[in-house]
Amino acid sequence: MSAQTIRTDQITKDYPGTRALDNISVSFDSGKVHALVGKNGSGKSTLVKIFSGALKPTSGEFYLNDEKLHFNLTGEAYEKGIVSVYQEMSLVPGLSVAENIFLGRLPQKYNTIDWHRTYQMAGQLLQKMKVEINPREMVSRLSMWQSQVVEITKALSFNPKVIMLDEPTSALAQNEVQSLFEAVRALRDQGVIVIYITHKLQELPQIADTVTVLRDGRLIGTVKMSDVEHKDIIHMMFGEVKVQSRPRDIQVQDDVVMEVKGLSREGWYQDVSFKLRRGEILGIAGMLGSGRTELLQGIFGSEPVQKGEVIVEGKSYKKANPIKMKNAGVGLTPENRKKEGLILVHSIIDNLCYASMNLTADGWVENKRRRNTFAEKQVEELEIKVPEVRALCSSLSGGNQQKVVVGNWLNTNPKIMLYDEPSRGIDVNAKQQIFEIMWAQARKGISTVFVSTELEELLEVCHRILILRHGRIVGEVNPDDVNVNELYELCMRGD
Ligand SMILES: Nc1ncnc2c1ncn2[C@@H]1O[C@H](COP(=O)(O)OP(=O)(O)OP(=O)(O)O)[C@@H](O)[C@H]1O
Ligand SMILES: [Mg+2]
Repeated sequence: MSAQTIRTDQITKDYPGTRALDNISVSFDSGKVHALVGKNGSGKSTLVKIFSGALKPTSGEFYLNDEKLHFNLTGEAYEKGIVSVYQEMSLVPGLSVAENIFLGRLPQKYNTIDWHRTYQMAGQLLQKMKVEINPREMVSRLSMWQSQVVEITKALSFNPKVIMLDEPTSALAQNEVQSLFEAVRALRDQGVIVIYITHKLQELPQIADTVTVLRDGRLIGTVKMSDVEHKDIIHMMFGEVKVQSRPRDIQVQDDVVMEVKGLSREGWYQDVSFKLRRGEILGIAGMLGSGRTELLQGIFGSEPVQKGEVIVEGKSYKKANPIKMKNAGVGLTPENRKKEGLILVHSIIDNLCYASMNLTADGWVENKRRRNTFAEKQVEELEIKVPEVRALCSSLSGGNQQKVVVGNWLNTNPKIMLYDEPSRGIDVNAKQQIFEIMWAQARKGISTVFVSTELEELLEVCHRILILRHGRIVGEVNPDDVNVNELYELCMRGD
């Protein structure tokens, strides 16, 4: 392929009350991986959506080589070889992996669908991604990272000239990220323009050739990765920020607020027991599929458990459910905010109040004033970037949606918070804010169970970390005694 360039000329995108992109002129050339970074709400997804035809700019032009582009339908961008993988998954759950990959263009033979070829071609593409996913499997049965891989595989199947990946690794574990990077490098070496959005800045030295930074809709600049260090990128993203580490003065108290005793769910986790003390931040580390999410759901009662009990402040819960646990002072922010954490077509204010208000009709109406107070408090404390609390949750950027999920539960004044991947898709600054919330809560005697794929985070935030492997707790570490490689090793293999 000869050299290719995709570029914008003074693109502006306005939403009511928000300028998502402000007069952006930027260009990305082939044979390179271009990282696109910036804090939550800075306009990254908006730019990608313009290139892919999902959004129209308010003003300005964009070009592939010398051709001015103008799309009326998303399919038109695909025809030009511009494909994207969004933060929000777009697969159809009721169809197979292969059908999803070739949706709308299934191979035909004698006027009927050639299923044999469909599965074969899908199988080959998946093999290129170095993953074992059965092309006949229903998408609804895939885990989150598997769906993500299928989504990327689908994009690859178009033989793209430009591929845009919007936070593709946010649901992936380390080894899967490496497989994805291999695929991305292969594309780059074939002369594809790769635009790669991520909040995981530690990935950049491995994968990026250039880094383009947006801040509040404006272009801060493009730099060569080899010319900059981590701190330079942070500075471009935020201006000045202080990165905090766990304050040493938080005292874990002696009394046990929650005890999990012999909790088991067939096929997911076995005989899990641990104690959580007042004011303690307890991490759970484990690879994907180790049962972390399921364990939290079992404790919270949102999924059934077969054996064992959860004791909260002396009271035993054997067949818990989320209402009982909420009344006991336990909150859970779920891993998948789109599925369980938020109602996107409802307003921000409503989404910030669901957990804390009873959903009876009159309770909801009567408490209007309380709802406003709740919403305003969290918007301010979590620095949620909202145009207006009455706007729909779907109008928020990914990271700000995550903050709404957390804010919703903080409004319940919990004694114990269970966090399942709270920092997925949020920028360094917002992450820091969430950690600071955990620390501030710990000071007030609130206890936390914190599940994260990012082992660095666990080491930074927690007082103690349990290692979960294949559904069993196989060890416990003090974050001061191990480094990230050692913790990774423990999660993979054990003692
Ligand atoms: N449909 C919409 N209506 C109104 N405002 C919107 C809409 N979609 C996005 N915005 C606003 O445009 C701005 C840019 O959003 P965008 O999703 O591009 O951010 P982002 O950089 O991708 O952030 P994140 O890292 O959180 O995903 C945000 O302030 C967001 O609230
Ligand atoms: Mg985004």
